[in-house]
Amino acid sequence: MTVEIRRAGPGEEAAVSALLAEVWHATHDAQLGHDKVAKITAKWHAPALLRAQIEDPGKCFLVAEAGGGELVGHAISWLDEDTAINLLRLYVLPSMQGRGLGGRLLRAAVAAWPGGHLLRLEVQALNAPAIRFYEGQGLRVIGDTAERGGFTDIPALVMERRLPFEDPA
Ligand SMILES: CC(C)(COP(=O)(O)OP(=O)(O)OC[C@H]1O[C@@H](n2cnc3c(N)ncnc32)[C@H](O)[C@@H]1OP(=O)(O)O)[C@@H](O)C(=O)NCCC(=O)NCCS
Repeated sequence: MTVEIRRAGPGEEAAVSALLAEVWHATHDAQLGHDKVAKITAKWHAPALLRAQIEDPGKCFLVAEAGGGELVGHAISWLDEDTAINLLRLYVLPSMQGRGLGGRLLRAAVAAWPGGHLLRLEVQALNAPAIRFYEGQGLRVIGDTAERGGFTDIPALVMERRLPFEDPA
């Protein structure tokens, strides 16, 4: 199946919000519970918030689109003042995971910021498969963080790697 990675356009926020809710429930319900995940994803992935991110020239808001127009993945990144690329989200529909799409989205989110010398992200400490995936992409845990958008009881790790990808991590 051909999957195209491209920037999202205005009007796609509802579809991305639905995608994020689906992946969040599949990924986190077992550990956080359905109700808490529903609350978090409603707050963090509200269509109005996503729309502002799509329209923000300081963000690279990507979607992965399968044939037929279905959105099957999403990533968003930005470049901070220290020229570190921050990956805010990386999500692939469960039915599409393990086929290289996460790796493609990650590279596209980095390629959007040619000036970036470092890749940085936060990942939930209990999300072992995602941590393994990021380690496979050359990122290493450099610390942890307590502040997670108002849900401070969810421990998260900070991971980083040097860029470009062609260099040793
Ligand atoms: C983490 C996540 C983004 C990874 O996306 P993905 O599409 O499953 O990742 P990929 O397919 O690129 O890579 C996964 C593995 O499949 C392997 N793989 C399988 N088929 C492949 C193919 N055709 N081409 C390349 N890699 C392939 C990769 O080598 C990789 O192995 P690794 O994890 O040992 O490095 C995705 O699983 C996801 O959305 N998870 C739930 C949400 C989540 O946890 N997001 C991160 C929050 S911070």
